[in-house]
Amino acid sequence: MLPFSPRTKLCALGVLFHLSTISVASGQSCGCSPTILPVHVDVLLPKDPTDPFGGLKSNASSLRRLNETYDVFGVFCQPTTAQRTDVVQLLVHGFTYTNQYWSPATEEFRNQSYTNFACARGLSSLAIDLVGVGLSSRPANASDVQYATHSAVVSQLARHLKTASILPGVQPFKNVIGIGHSAGSATLIFGAIADAHQSPLDGLILTGNLIVAPGALLTIPGVTSARDDTPLRWGALDPGYTTTNNRSIFFPADPASFSPRMPMFDAFTKDVGTVATFPQLSVSSLAANYTGPVAKVVGSEDQGFCTGTDRCDDVAALTATERVLWPEAKSFEVIVAPGSGHCMNLDFLANGPFNTFVDLVNQFVAL
Ligand SMILES: *[C@@H]1O[C@H](CO)[C@@H](O)[C@H](O)[C@H]1NC(C)=O
Ligand SMILES: *[C@@H]1O[C@H](CO)[C@@H](O)[C@H](O)[C@H]1NC(C)=O
Ligand SMILES: *[C@@H]1O[C@H](CO)[C@@H](O)[C@H](O)[C@H]1NC(C)=O
Ligand SMILES: *[C@@H]1O[C@H](CO)[C@@H](O)[C@H](O)[C@H]1NC(C)=O
Ligand SMILES: *[C@@H]1O[C@H](CO)[C@@H](O)[C@H](O)[C@H]1NC(C)=O
Ligand SMILES: *[C@@H]1O[C@H](CO)[C@@H](O)[C@H](O)[C@H]1NC(C)=O
Repeated sequence: MLPFSPRTKLCALGVLFHLSTISVASGQSCGCSPTILPVHVDVLLPKDPTDPFGGLKSNASSLRRLNETYDVFGVFCQPTTAQRTDVVQLLVHGFTYTNQYWSPATEEFRNQSYTNFACARGLSSLAIDLVGVGLSSRPANASDVQYATHSAVVSQLARHLKTASILPGVQPFKNVIGIGHSAGSATLIFGAIADAHQSPLDGLILTGNLIVAPGALLTIPGVTSARDDTPLRWGALDPGYTTTNNRSIFFPADPASFSPRMPMFDAFTKDVGTVATFPQLSVSSLAANYTGPVAKVVGSEDQGFCTGTDRCDDVAALTATERVLWPEAKSFEVIVAPGSGHCMNLDFLANGPFNTFVDLVNQFVAL
């Protein structure tokens, strides 16, 4: 996988946003570079993309092989001074987000960039666009884009970060910590189950994700085919590519806890997911024989997982329930971020979770 200039790829409608990501992220303490990495994926997918367990529990007759190479877009950021080679963070966005979830591409929300926050504390990161999303390859057939596809990409990139130079002059890293958000966390969970003892990830920080009961559908309002939602931009896409036109569930119910301009920006920069995203969330109810340290971070005001239930009130009880799925983890904890919503990076309290992520990364590397 050789990095090459993404300039030739910058032809989509998202160009302006992506270019501004780079300039915004290039603050005093952070040097950021866009890159495109060819990633080979050879996985078994369920023939039915709505299979609840994404193929993990399927027999051979209900699986098919996907053997493809995709271009994966990412933004690599590293502190401008005192680069560490002991650890890099691999950042995996959720449904309808892109790498920009970790660094909103506008000056106004500069202080809500996790990549900048982490750089200022000495940590490098690679924030990717999942396959099908943003500036990464978009397979013609949305049913090729499932958790098995995403997790194979993430594992390949983690191995790459540990064995090769991601960009000229950047040394391979000793540890790769995966930080996921929402469906990005489900991607890391899928990988933890599939790779088990062979996982190339040295720690997992799973944000905006709690166990989804087997077969339960996490229903979020407004999910629709992307081509019907925004014909001008997505009219030519397979209807299996989806998006959502109601993003209120991503924010706390209390409108005083985020900038009124953030949901506007969020709607303006939204991207797509696929029909597999929600049905396959039952992977979050399966146990993983993963041996690294694991932490889950969820906002107390997360309207998908916490509010309307007492689930997140008793952290000890929640931890006990979640821990069962990680029998071999080196350590396991659940942190409920007070006041934060589902997209905890996007509200006024983002500094709380940001500090938590940095503390966890440092703690995991020291283990
Ligand atoms: C394989 O799975 C399919 C779909 O779940 C099921 O219909 C079929 O009976 C299974 N076959 C075997 C041999 O278990
Ligand atoms: C899988 O893809 C690789 C790279 O494109 C190719 O060399 C290989 O022959 C493929 N394997 C099969 C079984 O199609
Ligand atoms: C997408 O791929 C699946 C599995 O190979 C196939 O069943 C389906 O017909 C394809 N859809 C389109 C629109 O080509
Ligand atoms: C969006 O969904 C919420 C429920 O999460 C609902 O209360 C609200 O009315 C919806 N907004 C629109 C514009 O449909
Ligand atoms: C985890 O390990 C146990 C004990 O070796 C085994 O029974 C189980 O099938 C494994 N689970 C997975 C998902 O690999
Ligand atoms: C960003 O700045 C605004 C305005 O000063 C503040 O209210 C908000 O808490 C800050 N957010 C973060 C994550 O620091």
